[in-house]
Amino acid sequence: MLVLGLETSCDETAAAVLKDGDTLLSNVINDQIGIHSKYGGIVPELAGRSHIERVHRVIEEAVQEAGAELTDLDLIAVTMGPGLIGSLLVGLNTAKGLSYGLNTPMIGVNHLEGHLLAIFLQKKIQFPFIALIVSGGHTDLYLASDFGHYKLLGRTRDDAAGESFDKVGKMLGLPYPGGPAIEKLAQNGNGKAHKFPRAYLEKGSLDFSFSGLKTSVRTFLQQREQGKHITLTDADIAAGFQEAVVDVLVDKLIAACKKENVSRIVVTGGVAANGPLREAVKTAAQSDGFEASFPDKIFCTDNAAMIACAGYHKFVRDKNLLADFKTLDAKANLPLE
Ligand code: KG4
Ligand code: ZN
Repeated sequence: MLVLGLETSCDETAAAVLKDGDTLLSNVINDQIGIHSKYGGIVPELAGRSHIERVHRVIEEAVQEAGAELTDLDLIAVTMGPGLIGSLLVGLNTAKGLSYGLNTPMIGVNHLEGHLLAIFLQKKIQFPFIALIVSGGHTDLYLASDFGHYKLLGRTRDDAAGESFDKVGKMLGLPYPGGPAIEKLAQNGNGKAHKFPRAYLEKGSLDFSFSGLKTSVRTFLQQREQGKHITLTDADIAAGFQEAVVDVLVDKLIAACKKENVSRIVVTGGVAANGPLREAVKTAAQSDGFEASFPDKIFCTDNAAMIACAGYHKFVRDKNLLADFKTLDAKANLPLE
């Protein structure tokens, strides 16, 4: 069974072809970093326009690389939300056109389910597991008890972890996206030189908050400009900030496992590409006897392989979940539960 995955929820135009749910034949990702970097963040209007210009070429490339023809496709899986509405509409309407023209069924996929199931592109994880989705738009903890059965345990109350990386990156004059740039800079810094605040919220809460940390970095930088903390370098600040984010993510993840009595962990989403986060999760999981899995970095950040994978599993579990292309709509806000 050949599934075409299509992802345009944010600033990656991506298409992939997946065979039988586990053999990836192609994975084309066309990012727009060059377009948005001069603005220090994503400009939604430009993202949507750029998807329109690229989407057909990206699909063609993915199908060609898979050694297939459009007419060989058995299913078209497309991100229907959450995301930037103008961007989502491009992928969704392209999928509708293909579905109608080729008479191939289509299925709408929640972008978060894509992230959550990306690990299945590499290995079969047994349910239940705790999934930490850390991306530019989300910081969510889920209990995944089966395909299609996800319970939200905690989420950020303000900035997403990736968003805080991007904002702090901008404050430090780093290029967009801030996450990889901060990780790189932090390698030369001492994260212990200054302890930035960790927001744990009320006792037992599995929610997150990163806006206070961001403000604390801003205040710190202003004070440094006025002559305080002058011995601290940008690299020290990047490392200290990164440590604060990682500490909270890991602590809450482990707390969720204990609370739900679940021993398997999946960390996914763009921020899961962060090396120190991966290391810290592995160490903490090991000491508690938990098993942690991470998609390869290329499957952590936005891609269409994960959408094809989630679409495949959705189709396999219930054919009634196929979408009617006349009524399927894009949704900027789309909860996963
Ligand atoms: O999952 P993703 O590609 O897009 C969304 O669904 O949001 O995540 C993008 C986010 C950005 O905020 C980016 O800065 C962050 O993931 N990110 C990282 C790293 N690579 C990407 N954050 C920390 N360390 C990284 N290595
Ligand atoms: Zn994403």
